[in-house]
Amino acid sequence: MSHPVQGPSADSVRIFDTTLRDGEQSPGATLTSEEKLEVARALSRLGVDVIEAGFPCASPDDFEAVQAIAASVGTTPVEGRVASEPPVICGLARATEKDIQTAFDAVKVAKHPRIHIFLATSPIHREHKLRMTKEQVVERMVRMVTFAKTLCDDIEFSPEDAGRTEPEFLYEVLEAAIEAGATTLNIPDTVGYTIPEEFGALIAGIVANVKGVERATISVHCHNDLGLATANTLAGIKNGARQAEVTINGIGERAGNTALEEVVMALQTREPVFKLRTNIDATQLTRTSKLVSVRTGMVVQPNKAVVGANAFAHESGIHQDGMLKNEATYEIMRPEAVGAGQTLLVLGKHSGRHAFAVRLRELGHALEGEGLDAAFARFKVLADKKKRITDADLEALAVSEFGRGREYFSLDAVQVTCGSNGMPTATVRLRCPDGEVRTHAAVGTGPVHAVFRAVDEIVQAPAELLEYSINNVTEGIDSLGHASVRVRGAGDGGRLNPQHGSGQSPILHGHAADTDVIVASTKAYLAALNRVLANQNAQERTSSPAAAPAPQKAS
Ligand code: KIV
Ligand code: ZN
Repeated sequence: MSHPVQGPSADSVRIFDTTLRDGEQSPGATLTSEEKLEVARALSRLGVDVIEAGFPCASPDDFEAVQAIAASVGTTPVEGRVASEPPVICGLARATEKDIQTAFDAVKVAKHPRIHIFLATSPIHREHKLRMTKEQVVERMVRMVTFAKTLCDDIEFSPEDAGRTEPEFLYEVLEAAIEAGATTLNIPDTVGYTIPEEFGALIAGIVANVKGVERATISVHCHNDLGLATANTLAGIKNGARQAEVTINGIGERAGNTALEEVVMALQTREPVFKLRTNIDATQLTRTSKLVSVRTGMVVQPNKAVVGANAFAHESGIHQDGMLKNEATYEIMRPEAVGAGQTLLVLGKHSGRHAFAVRLRELGHALEGEGLDAAFARFKVLADKKKRITDADLEALAVSEFGRGREYFSLDAVQVTCGSNGMPTATVRLRCPDGEVRTHAAVGTGPVHAVFRAVDEIVQAPAELLEYSINNVTEGIDSLGHASVRVRGAGDGGRLNPQHGSGQSPILHGHAADTDVIVASTKAYLAALNRVLANQNAQERTSSPAAAPAPQKAS
């Protein structure tokens, strides 16, 4: 087995990242297989011990994405990963033979595969969702864990909604799971209902009362409905849990999951309290956060702990004065510790493509061919405009060139007129799928509104704008602007993310970076509309009356 069992006396906490499974269940956070692989590489580089790569039974796309991650990130440590072993690659399964077999088939090529089985145990889930008695739940779980054990050594079991399960019944279920061969017992607070004192006591109760508990690692998996996910996770760890299930930026179903960066930095910053370490390279936190934010379209709030844009900003005079005298007056962690310090790129406008590609690779972006050419061309333009090019600029260029998907419409030119007098007007020229170049002008309440209206007139995509934001990539007046757009497309989102069930319209996002914020905004909007069109085309290709019903979502 890749990871020995970690009992409460172990001096480290295993980090289990579920950004690609529970995180990807956030509305609109759907990733393509290519993007999932890119995020998995970044997670491996960050040093996570276990990557929950997806829910393979959900759809053929999910299966393939998990398999691709298992075959690459799961077989060889990526460049920059400190650990000499690749991470464990885990696939989620409901408690059915089909789900378990499919999960195993997806992860088995990994050097360290894991199957994660879940079955609800709380009274409300037993009675209303499963319609099963306690005895039936235990019997099904034992049968399924025993079956999974014939395929794979490393088995994790989650009693879904453990936070609202009767403790005595939970002990019984967990004991039976250990007997059947589970090596990790995950305790989910599925609905984010518990408070830290209770959740800590629940874990302490498991340590004290479950026979054979020393043969398994106890894990915690908290949701953030009351804003208590990190506090509950830390309470669980304090009471003996040695695996934490987390997502980057805390993305996830409803109010999200526990944020990886918060748990890791709490353990690191308050080491004397916890006396526990993780394998995470904290200097990778900021860039991994940015990558996940850009790829999922889930913007990080400026005041977000550890990775928010203001996390290390000191505005008030009293604070600034204190900082100048001694940073420790108002700063409990250094920005560099989480990779928020800006490294100046030692490349300039005379640098060659090779040096550029090497630096990108060092930053974890393996761009090649046309993607590399396009990013390099944009780097040259940027180097002409901007005096200081930072790694953050470079990453913004790389992520906007990577995995763009099919471009039905692309920007040829955009021009706006705006100001205090008159009506904001935009003229947009687009290259269209039929090879034509079309131009349209529109007015709006502001220049971006005018641009989007002009784009709508040409593209005519069935989409409704939900969210638009623009942020600077670095400090300074010459910063790149990073635009992010979320739209609701027409039709069925089930194909994109079957965990959301069919019948919902998909939420899709687009993003782009440019020194001109109007150009960045136009490209981001076009990227989102191109995704709507790609989804629509795929639906038209695959729609057939015999299409299988979408599986239920995991929580
Ligand atoms: O929140 C939850 O209960 C889950 C399980 C599938 C572990 O995500
Ligand atoms: Zn969950």
